[in-house]
Amino acid sequence: MSFQFKIATEADLEAIMQLEKACFGNDAWAKPTMRSELVAPHTHYLAAWIGQELVGYAGLSKVTKATSADIQTIAVSPSQRRSGIGKALMQALIQKASELSAEEIYLEVREDRPAPQRLYESLGFEQIDRRENYYRPDGVAAIVMRLAFTRNPAEPVVLGIETSCDETGIGIVRGTKLLANVISSSMDQHARFGGVVPEIAARAHLEALDATLEKALTDAQITLDVIDAVAVTNGPGLAGALMVGVGAAKALAVAINKPIYAVNHLVAHVAVDVLERGKLETPTVALLVSGGHTSLLLVRDLLTDVELLGETIDDAAGEAFDKIARVLGLSYPGGPEIDRVAKDGDPKAIRFPRGLTLPKDQEKHRYNFSFSGLKTAVARHVELAESKGEKISIPDVAASFREAVVDVLVTKAINACQDHNVPRLILGGGVVANSRLREVVSKRCSEAGIELRIPTFSLCTDNGAMIASLGAQKIMAGEAPSALDFGVYSTLPV
Ligand code: KG4
Ligand code: ZN
Repeated sequence: MSFQFKIATEADLEAIMQLEKACFGNDAWAKPTMRSELVAPHTHYLAAWIGQELVGYAGLSKVTKATSADIQTIAVSPSQRRSGIGKALMQALIQKASELSAEEIYLEVREDRPAPQRLYESLGFEQIDRRENYYRPDGVAAIVMRLAFTRNPAEPVVLGIETSCDETGIGIVRGTKLLANVISSSMDQHARFGGVVPEIAARAHLEALDATLEKALTDAQITLDVIDAVAVTNGPGLAGALMVGVGAAKALAVAINKPIYAVNHLVAHVAVDVLERGKLETPTVALLVSGGHTSLLLVRDLLTDVELLGETIDDAAGEAFDKIARVLGLSYPGGPEIDRVAKDGDPKAIRFPRGLTLPKDQEKHRYNFSFSGLKTAVARHVELAESKGEKISIPDVAASFREAVVDVLVTKAINACQDHNVPRLILGGGVVANSRLREVVSKRCSEAGIELRIPTFSLCTDNGAMIASLGAQKIMAGEAPSALDFGVYSTLPV
């Protein structure tokens, strides 16, 4: 017969005392003790009933500000043992203790009672002590057991640190809610070199971290003690730059005594979607295009099943924009400049090559990218014109170059969706700012019946919120934290 739980009150005292005597004989509590237990403000007693018959009860004590709770007693009618009532009562009390924010629960059990000991072990309790001569009058020892909650809050507050390239990003999330997203970029310091200089980036991270962290905490309106875990990018990216973030994250995690999660930067670009939509719709293809990477991912599950379909075999798409901008005498970063200049140009003026799109590339490189041939072609075009003393149209070259990059990116992304029967595409990375890319990808996705997701731009570029978001997803899925000795991997696979 099935049993029913009710909160035990003083009205149940007589029935409880009967069962108490039946279960514990000489060792039973006196009635006044039981009454005061039932009515005390810091106790929670549950009674199990089968119809009108009381078949079990159990009590928990938890003082408001204490971090621990105690199982006071548990009894199950001898006729109902092994029916799961004891276990169910314990589980209900453990749940209650958790709701009351207890961090640990203690109980004592007679040493000569192996069955309940096994039950408690099965619920996660561990023996931590033994008290000689504890139970009266027979002098049996007590085994003291403890269950420590591994806090797996429904909405963990996670601080994410991102330093894989030239953005020092610190983001804070609560579950899937964005609390802060602060970015400090060292882009200006790289401008005169026309590209990111790894040593400069690493040093800039070191200098920016403190203030960025402060600002993130202020924006989130929290203090460090509220944080449940730290997440940090440990690859892929620039090794020296990654090392600064990982070192800082480990120091922070140790200082606040909280777990740390090492996070893959590329997967985090996809995880950002949960901050806007609550969850990631899967499967999805992700096209990640920035100054550091150009990757196509097939994401069947954000945490357990991400496949790298392809990536650039030479320059990243953003890097190509930056290099061509230099060739055209435009400033760094080149992407926005080319985008601006191209508005007045004819994208069909020059037919620049589309890397790795020939039939012969379709087997090995169907989802890979190459921009070095395009870069050379643009440089040749400019040199040739100059050598002939002809004036080139910078808008035409910029527009034609941009068209070639966008065409390849979008064609390959849509091929990936169609080949794998995936009706979704999500974009990430700084190149997503490109106006022509947005135009073409929107048009071709809608023609192909593919749902297109473009996160808010501040979440597209490298940022700490995406790292925090992926960390929070891991925690909510019950993933164990990283051991503190993890390293950085500039080519970390997804
Ligand atoms: O994601 P992101 O901010 O981080 C790094 O890779 O560091 O991407 C920056 C890259 C740069 O290469 C920049 O030229 C490119 O994104 N980018 C653009 C545009 N805006 C930024 N590329 C093309 N068109 C744009 N409008
Ligand atoms: Zn990135």
